[in-house]
Amino acid sequence: MKLSSTAPGATIYYTLDGSQPTKQSAKYTGPITLTKGQTNVIKAFAVKDDGSPDSFVVTYEFKENPNLILLTEVLNPNANADYVISKVISEMTLDEKVRMVWGAGTSQLGAAGNTYAIPRLGITSMELSDGPAGVRLGMIGAAGSHEATAWPNPMMLASTWNTSVLAKIGEAIGTEANYYGVDIMLGPGMNIHRDPLGGRVFEYYSEDPYLTGKLAASWIKGLQENGVGATMKHYAANNAENNRMNINEIISERALREIYLKGYEIATKEADPWAAMSAYVRINGTYCSEDEYLNKMLKDVFGFKGLIMSDWGAYHSPNGYKTGFDLNTPGGSGADSLKDAIAQGIITEKDLDRAIESILNIVIKTNTFKKQIYDKSEYAAKTKLDSNIAKQHAALSKEAALEGIVLLKNDGKTLPLKNIKTVALMGKLAYLSSPADLAKGIYFEGGGSAAVVVDLNEVVSLVDALSSGGLNVVQKTQDGKYLAEGMSTNDALYAANNSDAAVILIGRPGSEGSDNPASNMKLTDEELGLIKNASDAYHSLGKKVIVLLNVAHPIEVDNWDDYVDAVLYIGLPGTYGASAVTDILLGKVNPSGKLVDTWPLEYDYAPTDGNMPTPTTTEMTYTEDIYVGYRYYDLHPEVVKYPFGYGLSYTQFAYKSLTLNKNTLDLSKDGDKIMVTVTVKNVGDVAGKEVVELYVKANDSKVERPYKELKGFAKTVLLNPGAEQKVTFILDKSAFEYG
Ligand code: BGC
Repeated sequence: MKLSSTAPGATIYYTLDGSQPTKQSAKYTGPITLTKGQTNVIKAFAVKDDGSPDSFVVTYEFKENPNLILLTEVLNPNANADYVISKVISEMTLDEKVRMVWGAGTSQLGAAGNTYAIPRLGITSMELSDGPAGVRLGMIGAAGSHEATAWPNPMMLASTWNTSVLAKIGEAIGTEANYYGVDIMLGPGMNIHRDPLGGRVFEYYSEDPYLTGKLAASWIKGLQENGVGATMKHYAANNAENNRMNINEIISERALREIYLKGYEIATKEADPWAAMSAYVRINGTYCSEDEYLNKMLKDVFGFKGLIMSDWGAYHSPNGYKTGFDLNTPGGSGADSLKDAIAQGIITEKDLDRAIESILNIVIKTNTFKKQIYDKSEYAAKTKLDSNIAKQHAALSKEAALEGIVLLKNDGKTLPLKNIKTVALMGKLAYLSSPADLAKGIYFEGGGSAAVVVDLNEVVSLVDALSSGGLNVVQKTQDGKYLAEGMSTNDALYAANNSDAAVILIGRPGSEGSDNPASNMKLTDEELGLIKNASDAYHSLGKKVIVLLNVAHPIEVDNWDDYVDAVLYIGLPGTYGASAVTDILLGKVNPSGKLVDTWPLEYDYAPTDGNMPTPTTTEMTYTEDIYVGYRYYDLHPEVVKYPFGYGLSYTQFAYKSLTLNKNTLDLSKDGDKIMVTVTVKNVGDVAGKEVVELYVKANDSKVERPYKELKGFAKTVLLNPGAEQKVTFILDKSAFEYG
């Protein structure tokens, strides 16, 4: 029998005679040999000398049982997993059961959490790591952290509209997770961009549920193909951050089904995710983790076969265990409260058995289980990625950023830059290097649980990227100050005289825990001043001004874009994103990203303006109902700056030969489908990729329907000038139904 503690460096004391162990009991130094022919009782606890509390006492009882079946039995080729799991559960003590459904607290690897292991039954622990933007183990600069690739943030990944890019990123994250011994990733983030100021929109994909579901499904499939589980989060409507722990959101059932749950339905059916995380919020009066409607919808209606865990600290009572909820995370102490709940008749042991069955069904899929790893100190010792993995992922991360950058404005073919040797780089962010701000001359990633630990030396700054792209970069004024907000007209003229174009960086970081103030949508007076100054100076010399939007959420563009010649949305583009931005500026790659949200002229026009929670809001009604994003703006086109799906290219595409293989979908024929084809041709003069978007509109419906709904999309291959591609979409019943 081997004992181990999740706390590194802890000493374990144990007894073999049934008495409570103390610091005077035997010290554990190696495997304990059990005595045959009798019941062996080992009681043990772990102690750290750093003043942290001692662990609870665990009791292991070993009776000789010739029929004992271990979970490892499922690894035999002909094993019946359901049978093995039910036998293993029947072997568990109540102590073990309550701990199986209760996270084990702090992780040895610095992950957000982990689950309980029962070595005597062959049950390994699962390491649960954030998050949607890459493997997060620790904090930048903190000892014992593990470096990983920070990928472009999910909103930017979504802007690629390229499911194969999402699948490749998922797979690559799986490689890094396996490298560090992580079993389950706490992503993808699938909440809907109900409002641009939602603190975590950068962690989620889009305002549209179909796009969200399809992209999430691809990411999940990529990840899980690598033997690492995905966690769809935060089920179902963590669309804002303010007061997320307490707020009650009133949402109609139709809006839930059509907007907020749809992505989970699509991803569940397509990708079979291993886990889902219930959101902090209450919906229509009930905390998500305890919500029978939500839990049953996921498991019984959508066919979800994984485990449902709580968001960190979102567990409020044992009630959820009765309705399909499985695992309280991060857990730690407190599992014994479930024994009281059973004694009081609030839940039954059967409820726990049901939850454990869900958990064990996932445990058996993990690589940790397949290799029966109980001690992860070898993984814990690694702090850097293998150099080959890091190199391949640098290239992939850049590729994703290249496809996610969106060209918003390009007057007079300002971009790609031609005959330009020197640019002036302006904006204080371009010169900020701070781990706390997650910035190195660019906001490369978002904060909170999306912040991946990177080596700041690896992060490519914009200055470095432009220089490696072969450009001279003017960074300072005549007096040696950086070209930034607050510079004078003379400084601007100096820069204009000494460079061929100005590149201005505007940033908005993103992090969880609170929503952004409406003022974040507007440029500050200093930013506006910088743009106007630069514009006057450069335009007076016939030179161009380009703005880069390094933003975690949409912002207002209408009140300043007339001053500039070109605008690019560059998201939070990841460790290597700045080199992607440079390739786009130089025309090495033609931008092909499209917006995943509608950008209104002004925030005041948003359907949710005035209806977002404050830090003290305890109840809020989703009054816009299903009219989220373009479903609302299609009825108010006059307030739209950039529509959903918008994005320019350095080339042009023509669409022809749109055909349907038939005009009617026969609902009486199960699985009937309509095939839509269209040919896309590059009619410009540089190679490029196009995103083809297919919308469905109900012409004649008894119920009110949105003007249009996205029901298909595809990204073409790189089409050379004159080249064309036939794109095919399949529409089934789900493309036409509502709710
Ligand atoms: C976040 C989750 C995250 C968890 C663990 C929570 O605060 O809402 O998205 O996975 O923490 O870090």
